[in-house]
This record gives sequence, structure tokens and C-alpha cells, in this order.
Amino acid sequence: MLVVHPLLASAFSFLLLLNGALGCGENRSTLPVETGEWLPGGETTNTLLLGVNAFIRPAENITTEHSPMFFTGNSFFNQPWVEAPATTDKRDGLGPFFNARACSACHPRDGRGTPPETAEEPFLGLLLRLSVGEEDTYGGPMGDPAYGTQLQPQAIPDIAPEATPQISIETIEGTYDDGTPYELVKPTYIITAPAYGPLAEDLKISPRIATQMIGLGLLEAIRETDILHLADPNDENNDGISGKANYVWDEDQQELALGRFGHKANQPTLRQQVASAFHGDLGITNPVFPDENCFEAQEDCLNATVGGTPDIAEEEFHKVVVYNSLVAVPMRRAWDTEEILIGKTLFHDAKCTSCHTPSHRTGEHDLEELTEQLIWPYTDLLLHDMGEGLADNRPDYLANGQEWRTPPLWGLGLIPVVNHHHRLLHDGRARGFEEAILWHGGEAAESRDAFKAMPKEDRDYLIRFLESL
Ligand code: HEC
Ligand code: HEC
Repeated sequence: MLVVHPLLASAFSFLLLLNGALGCGENRSTLPVETGEWLPGGETTNTLLLGVNAFIRPAENITTEHSPMFFTGNSFFNQPWVEAPATTDKRDGLGPFFNARACSACHPRDGRGTPPETAEEPFLGLLLRLSVGEEDTYGGPMGDPAYGTQLQPQAIPDIAPEATPQISIETIEGTYDDGTPYELVKPTYIITAPAYGPLAEDLKISPRIATQMIGLGLLEAIRETDILHLADPNDENNDGISGKANYVWDEDQQELALGRFGHKANQPTLRQQVASAFHGDLGITNPVFPDENCFEAQEDCLNATVGGTPDIAEEEFHKVVVYNSLVAVPMRRAWDTEEILIGKTLFHDAKCTSCHTPSHRTGEHDLEELTEQLIWPYTDLLLHDMGEGLADNRPDYLANGQEWRTPPLWGLGLIPVVNHHHRLLHDGRARGFEEAILWHGGEAAESRDAFKAMPKEDRDYLIRFLESL
């Protein structure tokens, strides 16, 4: 007697439904190629340089006015800052505390950072955000009274670095529905040798990996109404997916504004994101955050020699913002082959698109290159509950301890080429696409389970599609 496993039976009828046949994916009906999807950044898309330099190009439609600003901004991003006073007052003012000497140390080739792999390795490209139980005046995270909202493990000479962060890693095993085993690694973090008194007892730590710099201006140019239109915080359509906008403090406007940048959408604009990077990561004061990043208990920091006031002036600072707004998204390498289209269909069928919204049309932006572009970032820029497995348990404005912003998926297939690794998710724990999907939980559990239930061949198609983005 022939016994058919119920799973196989359902997979078979599913294939019949798709009007397909098993093997090599031939004759499976798939979604069509969509107009423009091969140019994820619209007219800004980099069609010239792929490979290792895929993330360093300016928008292809950059104006002659913005082009020199882009390249000057780029040099400020790449070059190391030095302690004050120095012979060059344009590049001094580093610290007193800092995480790295250059933006590019964490975002190498405008790409992605890596987490440390052993307890001895220094932290570069991964930083720890800190807070205590309460909220600040604007509903944002309240920093540790002695260490603030970010740990800086480095300092200029004669000043003690704040503390030493350490990673430890645990292995978790699982199996796909077809019995294939897999292994995930789960990091936890501790902070040792605090130099300015004990850390708060209720300290909350959020590890964050440095992301790639492509297409960020386009995300800023998406109309707020379009993002809010996708939000469904109370899941009124009952699809198990909520999607919540974050509202965060805008220092320039002095009001709460929609958050778009960072892993919890905790920055409203690129200008403020860049300013907080200069301030928090390099210790460079700037027009948005003009005061040194020192706390009351940190007397040596308060008394240290500083650079200019601020360390970077508006003119140069603005160029870095222009630069960060106009880094191009690379074009897709493959988009119309049978296997990529099968992968795309599986991506839609597994409901990945409920959060990774394929395309948007941008609205107006001060940089005209970014205006009215059809783009394919695969994000809704909203917060989603991703379950306990990914939780940092550190609220960030309206984002609770289990919520993360849907990250854009464009360009992710090129990270191994640009950065020689494929670490994904907010803390870089995933070692490639498969592990990133397997970590999805909470609102995304159904999608993850759909992936786990796919035959190996289909999992491969789906991953090949992600690689093509
Ligand atoms: C110590 C490592 C480190 C350094 C140095 C650093 N960054 Fe970052 N960067 C990060 C991390 C981590 C994030 C994610 C932050 C978060 O989620 O809170 C980030 C996020 C960003 C983003 C937002 C990206 C997005 O996808 O939303 C921009 C823009 C950015 N950094 C620019 C800069 C600039 C400009 C500099 C130099 C002034 C800089 N960074 C220096 C680690 C770093
Ligand atoms: C409920 C919303 C939701 C659904 C559904 C969803 N994702 Fe995600 N995805 C997210 C969020 C939020 C993150 C960031 C999580 C983190 O950093 O810890 C993420 C991260 C990722 C990443 C890593 C991106 C990076 O930059 O590190 C990949 C790859 C990814 N998702 C692919 C998929 C695929 C494939 C599916 C369908 C099988 C899917 N996602 C379904 C919300 C979702």
C-alpha cells in the first residue's frame, strides 16, 4: 500500500495549484518581472561598478552641484579623526570617549560591520546602547547616569575608556521540516571593568551592528503618509502582522517626528543620524549636538582638551549628510531568470512582503536626485514584534524590547563581496540569509515556518532571489 505523508500530500497539491511540475523548477508558474525592479534605486541606481566597490558610488543622476559635496563628504567619512590639538583643525576633536576613529572603521567600504567572535576580540562595527528602566523627557531611553546611552570602549590618552564589552556565544540547534538539521548562534553581552563607578543595576543593553550606507536618502524621501498607510498597530485587518510607526525626538525641529533610521527607527532624519554618529561614535561635536559626550561622574572627560566648538562646522557636516543621502543602491545582477522568479514567487507566498514591502514611490526631497523615484527597498520602515529570540528587552521610544524596524533588503546579496562576511540582523548574529530567516519569530513566525516547511530546492530558490537583490 502506498502511504503518503500528509506534508508531502499538501506540498504536492500546492505544486499542482501552481500548475507546476517537480524538478528543476521548470514550468512552474511565477510572478512576472515588474517594470523597473532591476533598478532598485530608480534613476539613482549604480549600474557602473559592482563587485567589491558596489556600495561606494554616488547616485547615478547626481547633479554637478552635489557631486563635489558628495566626494568631500565621503573623505570625511573615510578618514580617521585625531585628538585635539592637532596641526589639522579640520580633522581633530576625537573623543574624549569614542568607539572608532573613522565612520568607515565600522562601515567599511560603506558596507556592514561584524560582531566579535570571541570574548577577547575588540568591538568594532558593533556597539552597545545602554539605558535604565525609565524614559527621558521625550519618551526616549534614559541613559545610565554614569555612562549615558552608548558604551564607548575607547578614549584619548590619559583618559580611562568607559569599560570593556564582551561577547559570549551559545549554539542553538534546530531542524527543517524535512529533517535537515541547522545550527544558530546566540550572542549575549556583558560589560566589565567600568571605570566610572558601577553600572546601573537595572541596566538594559542593546547590541547594534553597523549597517550598509546605500539608498538611505531614498528612504528619507518616502512620503510619511505612505509609511503610515502601511501601519496597522492594532492589527485591525487580522493578518497577524501589526506594523507600528516609531516617533522619536527631532533635535532640529524640537518636536517628535516619525523615526526611519537605525535598527529601531530611532532617528528621524539622516542629518540627525549622522550627527549622533559623530557625537556618539567618534566624540565629534557638531551643529546638532554641540556639547561633549561626558557625564557628571566623568571628571577627566569634562576637563579634557577639546577641538573646535563644535569639532565639525556646519559646512563640512552638511557635506557628510549629502554624502550619506546619495550613496547609490547597486542594480540587481539577475532579475528575469526562471529560478529568480520562482524565488520571488516563494518570497511573496511566504508573506515576507507583509513587512518587506517591495516598492515605493518617493515624494519630494531637498536633494532633487531623490524626488519621485520608483524604488525597491523591500521594507515598510515600521516596527514589528520579532519574538523573544531576537529581543533586546530595551525599549527605544515606542519600540518595545521585542520590536525592530524592518530593514531594507536591497544590496544584501553583495555584502559577502564587499565585506567578506554575511552577518545579518540587528546584532549580526545570523551567518547568512538562511539563519536570518530562521531567527524570525513573533509576527514573522508564520513566514519563518513557511520557509522551514519548504523542500530544500525551494529554500534555495528563495535564497537565490535574496542574493539577487
Ligand atoms: C562604532 C561603530 C560605528 C561608527 C564609528 C559609525 N557608525 Fe554609523 N552605525 C553604527 C551602528 C551600530 C548603526 C545602527 C545604529 C542603531 O541601530 O542604533 C549605525 C547606523 C548608521 C546610519 C543609519 C543607517 C540605517 O540603515 O538606518 C548612518 C547614516 C550612519 N550610521 C552613518 C555614520 C556616520 C556618518 C559615521 C561617522 C560620523 C558613523 N556612522 C560612524 C555603527 C557605527
Ligand atoms: C513581521 C514582519 C516580517 C516578516 C513577515 C518577515 N520579516 Fe524579515 N525582517 C523583519 C525585521 C523586523 C527584521 C530585523 C530583525 C532584527 O534585526 O533582529 C528582518 C530581517 C530580515 C533579514 C536580515 C536583514 C538584515 O539587514 O540583516 C532578512 C534577510 C529577512 N528579514 C528576510 C525575510 C524573509 C525571506 C521573509 C519571509 C520568509 C521575512 N524576512 C519575513 C521583519 C519581517
